[in-house]
Amino acid sequence: MARRKTDILVLGSGIAGLTFAIKTARKFPKREILVLTKTFEGESNTRYAQGGVAAVWDQEKDNFTKHIEDTLIAGDGLCKRDIVEIVVQEGPDRVREIIDWGARFDKEKDSPAYDLAREGGHSEHRILHYKDLTGWEIQRALMEEAARYPNIRVQENYFALDLITQHHLGYMVIRVTPNIECYGCYAFNRDNGEIDTLLSRVTVLCTGGGGQVYKSTTNPVIATGDGVAMVYRAKGRVENMEFMQFHPTSLYNPAGENPSFLISEAVRGFGGILKTEDGEEFMQHYDARGSLAPRDVVARAIDAEMKKRGAECMYLDCRHLNKEDFVAHFPTINEKCLSIGIDPMRNMIPVVPACHYMCGGVLVDEIGRSSIRRLYAAGECSSTGLHGANRLASNSLLEAMVFAHRIAEDLEKQLEAWDYRDDVPDWNAEGTSNPSEMVLITQSLKELREIMSYYVGIVRSNLRLQRAMDRLYLLYRETEELYKNTVISPQLMELRNLITVAYLITRSAKDRHESRGLHFTTDFPEKLPFIEHSIL
Ligand code: FAD
Ligand code: SIN
Repeated sequence: MARRKTDILVLGSGIAGLTFAIKTARKFPKREILVLTKTFEGESNTRYAQGGVAAVWDQEKDNFTKHIEDTLIAGDGLCKRDIVEIVVQEGPDRVREIIDWGARFDKEKDSPAYDLAREGGHSEHRILHYKDLTGWEIQRALMEEAARYPNIRVQENYFALDLITQHHLGYMVIRVTPNIECYGCYAFNRDNGEIDTLLSRVTVLCTGGGGQVYKSTTNPVIATGDGVAMVYRAKGRVENMEFMQFHPTSLYNPAGENPSFLISEAVRGFGGILKTEDGEEFMQHYDARGSLAPRDVVARAIDAEMKKRGAECMYLDCRHLNKEDFVAHFPTINEKCLSIGIDPMRNMIPVVPACHYMCGGVLVDEIGRSSIRRLYAAGECSSTGLHGANRLASNSLLEAMVFAHRIAEDLEKQLEAWDYRDDVPDWNAEGTSNPSEMVLITQSLKELREIMSYYVGIVRSNLRLQRAMDRLYLLYRETEELYKNTVISPQLMELRNLITVAYLITRSAKDRHESRGLHFTTDFPEKLPFIEHSIL
């Protein structure tokens, strides 16, 4: 068991974590920034981003007002306007910075101008992208830039287990306790199986989303909502968890795969059209914007058509598009489809909705401060107020960069005032033994993902949500028993975290007596006349 001190502890090495680390390393060259990441540095949701980054770029055709309006419309009344304005207005500067750090975006043929794509809910072409591999390119550029700073240390295979607060010093901490503080975290070192105590002046949570709570998701297996679960256990505030975004078009692969492969919304922006198996267009029956309506609308429409027809999937027709252009824009998508015997130029691409993005998360203010002192959050694990009830496509990478920047700026004023707590005890693993039946953990995980998919999916009802709650409680009890008696493993911790995330989604969904944005329930199909955030 090691005990370490670091000035700034960053949990996560995706776009939020690395952008923040780079900015802070420049500001505080004498301070150590320790970045923990639970597998390898390059593995994150960021890496899989396809469509790109939304930012007002072509000032002649586009402007901030349009991007703000598009974001507010998608968010269905629940966005915080001041936050939307901040992100949209500061966004282009943050994009310019990552371009300076080496991130490449596609340009128009024989022109210095960026090739701007369009996605659902956007009134203009404003998505900067690198083929269909934007996230991979951003992750690469950030890792290379971060490696240039000797004061950034990236520790791979380190799993943050719990945030350290006054609770670990023997004080009673409940959700209404004022001034809860974070002194670092306990982390499991996968390389030696030990649990280390990591003490910091400040901790920044950049742990990403929790799509793995559903059976079918575009999120990689690391996306288990650890940050949200840790904050909730530490009695911090979490909000709007019912708004889990289902991407309308993940590739339907009868062989099944985890994660599900995404067919970017940019394909529809490029002219791909949603159709039934018989080749009939159907989106015009649901929304005047057709295949380019916001995600909540399109995902529900596909779900409804599948149920009505008893179909396993719907289809995206790209056969009318120019082959050369399609392959140049979407080389990865083209290759993936070919690998399962679908040629997008000859066959319609079978698609189904899959869980994609967590719009809610750790409640933060306009500079990324959580309800726990000395703890900030940025990126998908946070709830800033930008997305409201439904995130606008390609606003997530932008938000992560804007908030990473804002937190780094704020630290300039704060860091000196925060010292280490030396009286934090080491992790107590007494009385635990190795689990005799690891299979129980995998079985519970399978059950959990099925419960969430059957009962807390795209269309909800009181009865379904209650069923989910009852079953989740059983899983919770069994898993807590396992946790008390067996040696910690990342698998067990991820299961616990996912159960917490599932509970938070289901409870917020039960409490919302209306249908808004991504939350649709047959018992309350209308919107309430007043706006309520679900803060837990
Ligand atoms: P992530 O990039 O997910 O990084 C999380 C990090 O935290 C990882 O390094 C992980 O290892 C680490 N971590 C997690 N838990 C722990 C723990 N317990 N201990 C230690 N480390 C931990 N958004 C857009 O704006 N545009 C797009 O085109 C787009 N396309 C997408 C396509 C796909 C397939 C997916 C899945 C998402 C897409 N998104 C897109 C969403 C976007 O990619 C994510 O919201 C964003 O990348 C999240 O960044 P992040 O830094 O918050 O988290
Ligand atoms: C996509 O490429 O469709 C994903 C974009 C996003 O999630 O913002």
